Amino acid sequence: MVYLRHQISININMSAADVLIKEATALADELSLTLHHSLELKEMSTPYVLNIDHSGVSLCQTAKGAAGPISANFDQGKNRHRRLYGGGNGQLIAKAAGLKKSTTPRVFDATAGLGRDAFVLASLGCEITLMERSPIISFLLADSIRRAQHSEDPALVAIAKRMHLQGGNAIDWMRDAVAPLADVIYLDPMYPAREKNALVKKEMRAFHDLVGENLDDHELLEAALTTAEHRVVVKRPRKGDRINGPLPQLVLSGKSARYDVYTLKAFPK
Ligand SMILES: C[S@@+](CC[C@H](N)C(=O)[O-])C[C@H]1O[C@@H](n2cnc3c(N)ncnc32)[C@H](O)[C@@H]1O
Repeated sequence: MVYLRHQISININMSAADVLIKEATALADELSLTLHHSLELKEMSTPYVLNIDHSGVSLCQTAKGAAGPISANFDQGKNRHRRLYGGGNGQLIAKAAGLKKSTTPRVFDATAGLGRDAFVLASLGCEITLMERSPIISFLLADSIRRAQHSEDPALVAIAKRMHLQGGNAIDWMRDAVAPLADVIYLDPMYPAREKNALVKKEMRAFHDLVGENLDDHELLEAALTTAEHRVVVKRPRKGDRINGPLPQLVLSGKSARYDVYTLKAFPK
């Protein structure tokens, strides 16, 4: 974690909520990150800054001409559009996780990231535990979930209340868990970034700088296969290599993503 200090610092603006100021100060302390107060981005020496203000937490890049801030705002943009018009259980991720009218599995998302996939599944009714091992990403995500839980939109509040975030390493967590941990375990480990989409590029570049690649994805899969009750679902780029290990029983390919599905036990009818 020592390298993180040179990668990222934290900037607390005066408009930030008290609870965030407290948590951000504790995070800076835990990770030995430099804490700034109300500085301009151009005044920072780290390439990334976790910026805290009245609108919550966002991850910013300080380089001249860098892309805009990254945050997981569940009430806006792609997240909102997909919730309202995404296609319900017809979406590939829902099919991969086995969602049907009669089946709404409990899901453990072992690689939460910014929680977009988890949000889709929670929107479709799943109770979902999200695990994220990067304290920086986890901090961003916790803020997004909290904001959604306090939204004025009751539908969004209900969805966010089905999302339960846990910091830590999911491999250790699954190895120590009493099986079954969940009906479905969902994995979307880091993959070398090759996507063309600008948003993915921006986010993925930041993720690769801050959390690195998943060289241990086979361990994630191995632990998930012994801990899930019904299915393990692995998200990959459409043409990406599958994770080393057993072959999936089902492969669902979309425009950019592919889901490798390991079926362990049929869902009850
Ligand atoms: C590609 S991102 C996931 C994106 C996510 N599916 C979404 O929709 O936003 C992968 C994330 O998994 C996290 N991760 C990787 N291995 C992990 C592990 N063993 N335990 C917990 N989190 C892990 C990384 O830190 C990274 O934030």
